Amino acid sequence: MTQDELKQAVARAARDYIAANVPAGSIIGVGTGSTANFFIDELAAIKDRVCATVASSEATRKRLEGHGIEVVDLNDVTAMPVYVDGADEITENLEMVKGGGGALTREKIVAAVAGKFICVCDQSKLVATLGKFPLPVEVIPMAQAYVAREIEKLGGQPKPRAGFTTDNGNIILDVHGLAIADPAGFETALNQIVGVVTNGLFACRGADLLLLATPDGVRQVAR
Ligand code: 5RP
Repeated sequence: MTQDELKQAVARAARDYIAANVPAGSIIGVGTGSTANFFIDELAAIKDRVCATVASSEATRKRLEGHGIEVVDLNDVTAMPVYVDGADEITENLEMVKGGGGALTREKIVAAVAGKFICVCDQSKLVATLGKFPLPVEVIPMAQAYVAREIEKLGGQPKPRAGFTTDNGNIILDVHGLAIADPAGFETALNQIVGVVTNGLFACRGADLLLLATPDGVRQVAR
């Protein structure tokens, strides 16, 4: 199977999970990226069961609306049973690196409101140690040089993402050269640097359920 076929298979599995486990009329949080895009296309098939969605990026909002799926403002939402999103790396403990698409801040906010984070990945994303994929950090532009120096003190090699501005008007530093032994501790340490908006470690609040596509089927790993 190709990687896209695996992504399609896991997107279908997420759709089936929602159809079977999430009450009709619920609001669903939707992530960003190529796997999330396959999920959006599958969600369209059950859109009559879904009350509305919350989008984690402008790209996701446009794709949802393109399918005629209603997108609402997170501030108008009090309960959202699930958030479905991909990851750049994930461990068996369901800690993740996210933000390859640059949407990490809105993804983390929508995930925080959701009852359950369902991560949808193909098997290439499963790792023993996080950090080979450069860790995205969203930074207020005027703090870029300061934050980069502080990240170097923590052992990372930050590189500005060229020509990229987040949906929030900020820059991304992609941090190379990491092997993250304590994901929750490193997530917290990065958040202490003044000028950091969010970092792409999702460990303090990881996934609750991983749907992992393999050529032998979709494997479930629950917290
Ligand atoms: C976007 C993300 C994505 O979930 C992550 O980059 C995975 O993307 P893809 O499904 O395209 O591999 O965090 O900010």
